[in-house]
Amino acid sequence: DAAEKGGYEHYMRKEIHEQPTALRQTLSGRIDLDRGDVDLDVDFPQGYLESLEEIQLVSCGTSYYASQYAARLLEEIADVRASVEIASEYEFDGGRDPWRTLVIAVTQSGETADTLSAIRRAAGAGARTLAVTNTLGSSVTRETNDTLFIRAGPEIGVAATKTFASQVVTLALLSVAIGRERGTLSTANARTLLENLRTLPGAVQQVLDEEEHVLEAAREYQDSESFFFVGRRYGYPVALEGALKLKEISYDHAEGFAAGELKHGPLALVSEQTPVLAVLTAGSDGSETVNNLTEAQARGAPAIGTVSDGLETKSLDWTFEVPEADVFEPLVANVYFQLFAYHVANLKGRSIDKPRNLAKSVTVE
Ligand code: G6P
Repeated sequence: DAAEKGGYEHYMRKEIHEQPTALRQTLSGRIDLDRGDVDLDVDFPQGYLESLEEIQLVSCGTSYYASQYAARLLEEIADVRASVEIASEYEFDGGRDPWRTLVIAVTQSGETADTLSAIRRAAGAGARTLAVTNTLGSSVTRETNDTLFIRAGPEIGVAATKTFASQVVTLALLSVAIGRERGTLSTANARTLLENLRTLPGAVQQVLDEEEHVLEAAREYQDSESFFFVGRRYGYPVALEGALKLKEISYDHAEGFAAGELKHGPLALVSEQTPVLAVLTAGSDGSETVNNLTEAQARGAPAIGTVSDGLETKSLDWTFEVPEADVFEPLVANVYFQLFAYHVANLKGRSIDKPRNLAKSVTVE
């Protein structure tokens, strides 16, 4: 067991640190910078992507937050209508020609019962289906028209970490493929996106090198009553994921909000006992979010920001620097939230790799 953990005390910390490698595998052989395009091993029928009307992503848990990130990428990069639904809430509505709706099941394990049942419903109604998964030979790969592997390598910790990053990056590649095929994404814009994707393993490594700094913050705030996470745009799903990670493994109360919603309710809960962790990067309207964060701070809350270079954040209680990566900066910021959750839970002596009541893959509806 110790050997399998490669010197780490927990699989979760090992898997957090594997992210640069996982992302390199996700990208490997798929980027063609000259053409400003990608090579994915998915062969959609001739003309299918051009005639596509809508993409629906279905998923649960961390995969659901990765899907929220991806839906925004699909809309912005590929200019195609994209929606996200929690698998257990999903009902297929494909209009007059269901085949022109592509339903994507995003599932690390490929075995989540809610996601399988959602994809069956869509396929039964005549939609085209695609699996985005980490697991070769999993059930979802047998139930969908096509499969795209995220190639993150095996993930043992119940709390998903490296697979979140690899899911978002795989779906970013798919967004480029669709945008190029439909003619909605220029060669120059595709190249910029692909170049940003290629910087991600290095950017994530820079965050991992700051782990000591995150541990200090975890020590300072570990006894707080509740933790709030806020973000806008691509930072919003990351705020939700940050809160999920912390509650799953530390058993502390944590909640994520759209930063603009703080003033519409959650601010009533804010006190010295509720640190607010914010995504203040490119791709997340950092300069607007910083105002929401300082409103919470004015009411006593410790303010912790993951920030891009150049953002004015002098008044914050704690800042974590995020390397430049445009719309992928919130994805990089998420690594700080993973480390924070890990260290808060570890300081409390929690069962990090196997949190109480949770399972890695939930095969009942
Ligand atoms: C379980 C796991 C979560 C995971 C979710 C979806 O609840 O504990 O970590 O995000 O299932 O799993 P999937 O394999 O479908 O991505």
